Amino acid sequence: MQSVKAKATPTPSPGFTAPWPHRHILDLDAFSPQDIETVLSLAQSMKQVLQREVKKVPSLRGKTIITCFHEPSTRTRISFETAGKLLSADVINMQATGSSVEKGESLVDTLLTLQATACDVLVLRHPHAGAPYLAARWLHRTSVVNAGDGTHAHPTQALLDIFTLREHLGTLEGRTIVIVGDIAHSRVARSNLWGLVRLGMRVVLCGPPTLLPWDLLNGRKETPGHPFATVEVETDLDKALEGADAVMALRLQKERMQTGLIPSLREYIALWQVNEHRLTRARPGALVLHPGPMNEGVEISPGVAHGASSVIQEQVTNGVAVRMALLYLLCTAQERHP
Ligand code: CP
Repeated sequence: MQSVKAKATPTPSPGFTAPWPHRHILDLDAFSPQDIETVLSLAQSMKQVLQREVKKVPSLRGKTIITCFHEPSTRTRISFETAGKLLSADVINMQATGSSVEKGESLVDTLLTLQATACDVLVLRHPHAGAPYLAARWLHRTSVVNAGDGTHAHPTQALLDIFTLREHLGTLEGRTIVIVGDIAHSRVARSNLWGLVRLGMRVVLCGPPTLLPWDLLNGRKETPGHPFATVEVETDLDKALEGADAVMALRLQKERMQTGLIPSLREYIALWQVNEHRLTRARPGALVLHPGPMNEGVEISPGVAHGASSVIQEQVTNGVAVRMALLYLLCTAQERHP
């Protein structure tokens, strides 16, 4: 395993002027490889800030960030709040439960209300695919960040996954990652596909046929230049793992399944759990990722989840650094292009 040491990059300051074309962060299909590099490079500097004794910097003083979550979250909500506070922004958290959403207020009215409080960035999680796109259409003074919309996209999770892979593997060109589990319902897998394919990684999707994203994969081979033409599908996890540099396990999202899509949990564990025995098929030192939350003992064994190959806790730390970078880029782009 090749390890990449953090470069000595300067502390980010309002003078950072990387070209940043995005007013909103909706999904990685809109990101060029250069955009991804810009985020990763700034996140590296932000990670150095996180390692200081005094972690707070004044970069976003005077800015207001609202997190608006219509679904449960631990990692995403807390890391956005931490990221904003470490950059000295004011951060306000709103959860649909306990808000006027419960009195019947529409999503658009809620969004316009939040914008009217002079909020600079709105971080939105919603059970319906497309909700952040609706927000971006209505909001003209506030940047929108998609913090997960239904089964569609989770771009900031994908960026922190890519950051973590890059820290350990260096270049991703030609490297192999296996993404295994409930891919059909995974917004994390969809956003990762855009980013990983753009950076030249070989991606193998693995799971029961009922949990593979056929909507996304159908037709990709027939369409010349389709971005997912190179994505491979393998239902046998032992075969998929042969020589892999990394494996990402995904949770069974029972809350999004309309019907029973697996014969039994016992069979699922027997065939698709990432465990110590299976991991021996991957390259020595292959990385184990999981976006969380985990169901230990189901998609991943406790020994692997907390073993030497696991970078799951690093993903959480890197999530703060990546989200600091994104908040910084959005707020400074607003200043350059009001
Ligand atoms: N990975 C992720 O989105 O986790 P949370 O649901 O805890 O935010």
